[in-house]
Parts: sequence; structure tokens; C-alpha cells
Amino acid sequence: MRREYAGALIEGDLAATWSIQFGRWLGDAIAADLPEPNAMVLATADGQGRPGARTVLLKGYDEQGFVFYTNYDSRKGRELAANPHASAVFAWLPLQRQVRIDGVAAPVSRAETAEYFRVRPRGAQVGAWASPQSAVIGSRSELEAAVTATENRFAGTDDLPAPPNWGGYRLVPEAVEFWQGRESRLHDRLILCHLEWFADEGRPDLHAARDLTDLGLDELDSLTGHRAPLEAEHAALWVSRELHPAPDHRRVHGSAAEERV
Ligand SMILES: Cc1cc2nc3c(=O)[nH]c(=O)nc-3n(C[C@H](O)[C@H](O)[C@H](O)COP(=O)(O)O)c2cc1C
Repeated sequence: MRREYAGALIEGDLAATWSIQFGRWLGDAIAADLPEPNAMVLATADGQGRPGARTVLLKGYDEQGFVFYTNYDSRKGRELAANPHASAVFAWLPLQRQVRIDGVAAPVSRAETAEYFRVRPRGAQVGAWASPQSAVIGSRSELEAAVTATENRFAGTDDLPAPPNWGGYRLVPEAVEFWQGRESRLHDRLILCHLEWFADEGRPDLHAARDLTDLGLDELDSLTGHRAPLEAEHAALWVSRELHPAPDHRRVHGSAAEERV
């Protein structure tokens, strides 16, 4: 199955910070009426490095990171407690776009959780109390009984508090990659990342390399682990010393990444 992609994301189009760029693309996804445009696939790994992925909904973002809500006792909650590194992907396929985030997730403050919990519909509030997320239960009727018990428990209460084991995480990015499908597999792939993250990808000595713009393509390829294309893909890398507010993006080079679809 092969189809050509018509969009473009060139360096000059990239916003000054990842959050502005993300906001533009999220806005495009909403305007295009895509289903669940704020859905992202979140990957975590346990203490042994075994990965797991699932969909969650983005409930907020700013320069600090991407916020989602969940049960802290869930599998993802337990995995993040053991290993806070996480990765998330927004796949806006009809727009031929993908945003990939690599970073570290930390619980948001209880005050932030409480503020969000207050505006959730009552049914969702009750569900957060009643559902032992990721735990195996005997039957659906067991869950429904827990919902009824929760409704009875809070019958006279207008404002349910957030359950202590439920709340938000903020995924603080170390790298945000914007991928735009282009014609002839010459896709655009622009990355905003910490220099440290870039170096950790394979060349620790780059911590000392202030100016990456002198790197040759071969060197860059070995740095990124990407090989020269058989099917060409164009990937531009932008490296910033600080992710937020991303003051000083450095154009490195166009590099080639192998990709097969
Ligand atoms: C469209 C969609 C949105 C979802 N949003 C959330 C969410 O915001 N928070 C959440 O905890 N689970 C959400 N889920 C359910 C998760 O994918 C997952 O089943 C659940 O969180 C348990 O995952 P875990 O056992 O890996 O922790 C969503 C699922 C779908 C399909």
C-alpha cells in the first residue's frame, strides 16, 4: 500500500517552541474534525524495561509538558513509579502527521488534580472512585455494584473529591518530534530536544560540542543511528540547549533516516 503525502513542515515554518508548534497541529487536527484529536498512545516500561502502551487523553499542555489523568494504581501508574521515562505519540493520520514525545512523567500537584476533577462530569467522578483500573475483576456486575455503592456513599455530596489514588501526570518532554508526510517518501521530521538528550542517543562527547552545525552528514547519521536511505527520507534535526522556551535552535543538517512503510 503506497500513497503520496502532500503536506510540508520546513524549518522556516517551525514555531519558536515545541508547545506553540504542537498547539498549531492540535488546532489543525481539531479543525479537521478528526476523531479524538487529543488521544495519544502512551508507552511506559516497568523496572525491567518491559514496555506497555495504551491510549490516554491529553487534558492540558503548556511549556512544562503534556498532562493526562489516570488511576495511580493502574499498570501505567505502577510502571511510572518504577520508571518515570515515558513516550507518547499523537497519530493524526488523515493529516499525515505524527508527534512523538520522549520524556519523564511526574504526578501533578493535588491542587491541579482537584481543579480538573471538579469539572469532570459526575459519572466520570463516580467512575474514578469505583473502578480499580488495571485490576482483574470478577464480572461487569461487580463494577456496576461498586458504582452504585459509590453513588450511595456520595449521595448528599455535590462536589466529589478526587480519589487519593487518581490524578494527573505531566509528561515533561526531553524531545518532541514533528513528522509530516511528504511526496516520494521525502518526509519532514523536525525534532526539538535537549542537547543532552541528543547526545545520549549515541554520542556523549557531543556534550562538549557546542556547535553541531559543522557535523557532516555521515557523522550525523552515526550520531542519530539513522542510515542513509534506500528510500529517501528527509529529516531535519533541530537541537536546542533548552527545550523551554527553546531559545536557540540550531539547524544541524538534513539527515537521512531509513524508513519503510
Ligand atoms: C480513546 C481512549 C481514551 C482513553 N483515555 C484514557 C485516559 O485519559 N486515562 C486513562 O487512565 N485511561 C484512558 N483510556 C483507557 C486506557 O487506554 C487503558 O485501557 C487504561 O488506562 C488502563 O491502562 P493500564 O492498565 O496500562 O494502566 C482510554 C482509552 C481509549 C481507547
